[in-house]
Amino acid sequence: MKWYVLLAHPNPKSFNHAVCRAFLDGLDEAGAPWTLNDLYAEGFDPVMGMADFRQFVPGGRIPPDVLAEQAKVENADALAMIYPVWWNEAPAILKGWIDRVLSHGWAYEMTPDGDFRPMLRLRHALVLNTADQPADLLEYSGVRGAARLTKNRGTLGFCGVDSVEHYILGSCSRDPEARAAFLEKARQLGREG
Ligand SMILES: Cc1cc2nc3c(=O)[nH]c(=O)nc-3n(C[C@H](O)[C@H](O)[C@H](O)COP(=O)(O)O)c2cc1C
Repeated sequence: MKWYVLLAHPNPKSFNHAVCRAFLDGLDEAGAPWTLNDLYAEGFDPVMGMADFRQFVPGGRIPPDVLAEQAKVENADALAMIYPVWWNEAPAILKGWIDRVLSHGWAYEMTPDGDFRPMLRLRHALVLNTADQPADLLEYSGVRGAARLTKNRGTLGFCGVDSVEHYILGSCSRDPEARAAFLEKARQLGREG
């Protein structure tokens, strides 16, 4: 599968960058092509502004940076999102990518009957998260469930991506063994292509 990989962390030395690197290394081992968008490094503008709202007007034009992102998604079979949990959510830069890129008429549309119709053609998606809460607390506090609801079902599933895998590492900053295992997991997921 051809992958489009979104990475949302500002620090190149962060664990999230290492996770991303491990995943890309695995893809390389599998011979699977990939394109990376390091959202901070690329300077993606995450603010959904008035220009973005033209998508809701028939014939309204989509901003060029959004069209460029959509072309990269169209060129991929699978999408990966790699990010730390910040305040129980994705970093705003990734949320903004979702707000702006998954536009009406491209990622989904509303039928004349008022039903939503999914339009994304991606075959698979992968969400890799890191967090400092311990794993059991992530479950208990609902953070894990929230990611499933908002990313897997409410966003990717809503737009037609039925196959979504989600992994979240707890106790990220203080469990070296779990970090090593998560890096290996990311590499292994890449090897699966
Ligand atoms: C602004 C901010 C908000 C955070 N919110 C949470 C949170 O809600 N739950 C949690 O478990 N960890 C939270 N953390 C901890 C990060 O998830 C954790 O430090 C990160 O996943 C570690 O990966 P990194 O080394 O790549 O940054 C937060 C960290 C920051 C900077």
